[in-house]
Amino acid sequence: MVSRMNIENDTVEITSGVRFGRTIGSPISMVIKNKDWENWQKIMSVDENELMIDPSLRITRPRPGHADLPGIFKYHENDIRNILERASARETAVRVAAGALCKCLLKEFNINILSHVVNIGGIQASAADFKFEIISKKITMSELRCADKNAEKKMKKIIDKAKSEGDSIGGIFEILVQNIPVGLGSHVHYKRKLDAAIASALMSIQAIKGIEFGLGFKMASLPGSKVHDEIFFNSKKKDSLKFGFYRKTNNAGGIEGGMSNGEIIVIRAVMKPIPTLYKPLRSVDINSKKPFKASIERSDICAVPAASIVGEAVTAIEITDFFLDKFRADSLVELKDNYENYNNLYKGFSLE
Ligand SMILES: Cc1cc2nc3c(=O)[nH]c(=O)nc-3n(C[C@H](O)[C@H](O)[C@H](O)COP(=O)(O)O)c2cc1C
Repeated sequence: MVSRMNIENDTVEITSGVRFGRTIGSPISMVIKNKDWENWQKIMSVDENELMIDPSLRITRPRPGHADLPGIFKYHENDIRNILERASARETAVRVAAGALCKCLLKEFNINILSHVVNIGGIQASAADFKFEIISKKITMSELRCADKNAEKKMKKIIDKAKSEGDSIGGIFEILVQNIPVGLGSHVHYKRKLDAAIASALMSIQAIKGIEFGLGFKMASLPGSKVHDEIFFNSKKKDSLKFGFYRKTNNAGGIEGGMSNGEIIVIRAVMKPIPTLYKPLRSVDINSKKPFKASIERSDICAVPAASIVGEAVTAIEITDFFLDKFRADSLVELKDNYENYNNLYKGFSLE
């Protein structure tokens, strides 16, 4: 699982937008150098060189489950390498870096985000009852970012088995967002819905094939009385996020009508098994049209823990976008002021 991590031991270089450790409003540029680049300078050269006319270097056997086949038609290419390098999830490294910046901003408002693995190859972790802080602590001690130790052991076995069989394995990760104020997102326009934006960002991660919020797909088999979170009020629960209104359940996963409702946001994403298999699947050569086993690129067996970190990052980016949309400001001081103003607005619980 970790072979790629050995060459992708990333550090981020910030080249603009920050002075003396503080952002100054201009765009922040970040560079993540790929150690493997040394080995690929000639074959991926920007300038023409002798390799460009060497047909034996071309990749012509598309891998099922990848961008390879649709990509060559869309971009009229005769070398699948021109498709697969950009389609690679390597692109997500910089999204993780951007997400880290967003998390810094959100932390100023006590908003925390975590992700953890809840299923690999059908092995289900029973972390659903753990609180945010407990999960957060447990995953730091887990190689697979799984809060359930017993399940993790079984998950490792299933990954090893897939490896020994030249196969790959997928799974599910969960993202939790804590201390979100009521009212991020909007019901008034489809592009302003918080759940739609988060789902779209998560679906943009390579190999993610489904998203659910709260009870998610289980809602299909339950009546409304068992799904919707009843509303209560207690003036003593006057916390600034929900203005005294509260729920005993959170089946909605913290979003109603495209808006945060103040409960923890609960999202799960399913990742398909990695498409590059060491025991390759059948495919057809794009030139000869003859059947072949698909080509093998260096590949992971299971990337669900890595994908969960990407999922956490893109969620942080979306939440930040919606947070800034709601509390618009040009400085952190102003942003805090706007945020406090909103919280003070309903102190007397009157909407008149
Ligand atoms: C963190 C991460 C790591 C991945 N690693 C690999 C890999 O090593 N080999 C591979 O074939 N696919 C890998 N993928 C998945 C492919 O990039 C993805 O399946 C492919 O680009 C096709 O896109 P689609 O699955 O969204 O249709 C990875 C995805 C993620 C999110």
